[in-house]
Amino acid sequence: MNWSTLNERTYAPYSGKAKACVVESRSGKLFAGVRVENISYPITIPAVQAACTICLSEKEIPAKLYLEDDGLNQLHFWKKEFNLKIVKTDSLPELPVEDLYHNLDADLGITNRLKELLNQAVIPNSDFPVSALLFTSDGYLEGVNVEVSDWSKGLCAERVVLSKAIAAGVSEFTRLEIHAKKGEISSPCGACRQVIAEFLPYHDIILHHADGTSSEHLTLDLLPFNFKSSSLKKINV
Ligand code: THU
Repeated sequence: MNWSTLNERTYAPYSGKAKACVVESRSGKLFAGVRVENISYPITIPAVQAACTICLSEKEIPAKLYLEDDGLNQLHFWKKEFNLKIVKTDSLPELPVEDLYHNLDADLGITNRLKELLNQAVIPNSDFPVSALLFTSDGYLEGVNVEVSDWSKGLCAERVVLSKAIAAGVSEFTRLEIHAKKGEISSPCGACRQVIAEFLPYHDIILHHADGTSSEHLTLDLLPFNFKSSSLKKINV
């Protein structure tokens, strides 16, 4: 893995500017993060936020941050939040990106995996665990919600798993399955619907509710009349 390979994974169809970084956890595991833009610009996920929340969603604590240049959004916040050691480097450590993929254990099943995964949620503020499985034609990736001291810098389970996939170089998805342990229904928030619409616009979203029932929806039905503009043309995808 080198910076140019990782930079290429950046989802920056609106700015065209690659932004990437790698977080090393206290136990020495490596997690890549890339900028994930959205047609609604303020919903964009900065590379450092992606890398740190992905790391936390894997039950690891960020310790070190590898970057190519200092011009990364939210760098100051995350550096302070975890007392990160910043390592500016031209060469990246080897990344175990393949570890983030899973093959579904048919015996366990999707519902059970979603329930198990809730234990990984980092929820010091809400005590409201959410899990998400993002399917590709080859397997799936897992996500949980992550909260930090600044509520606006945590990420929902849906956005954690989507940023994890993009940083792993995966951008073709088949469906997303979501589960919340509490509440009458499991349902993605408005910001997540906007991000889901960017990557799974015509796909199935399957919601596993707390009472054991589930329901299937199309992204377009979850976000009707969604924001699009021909003046915000994608430039490189
Ligand atoms: N949350 C999600 O993970 N997904 C959603 O779509 C709704 C909200 C999380 C975010 C936060 O950690 C907690 O639920 C309360 O808002």
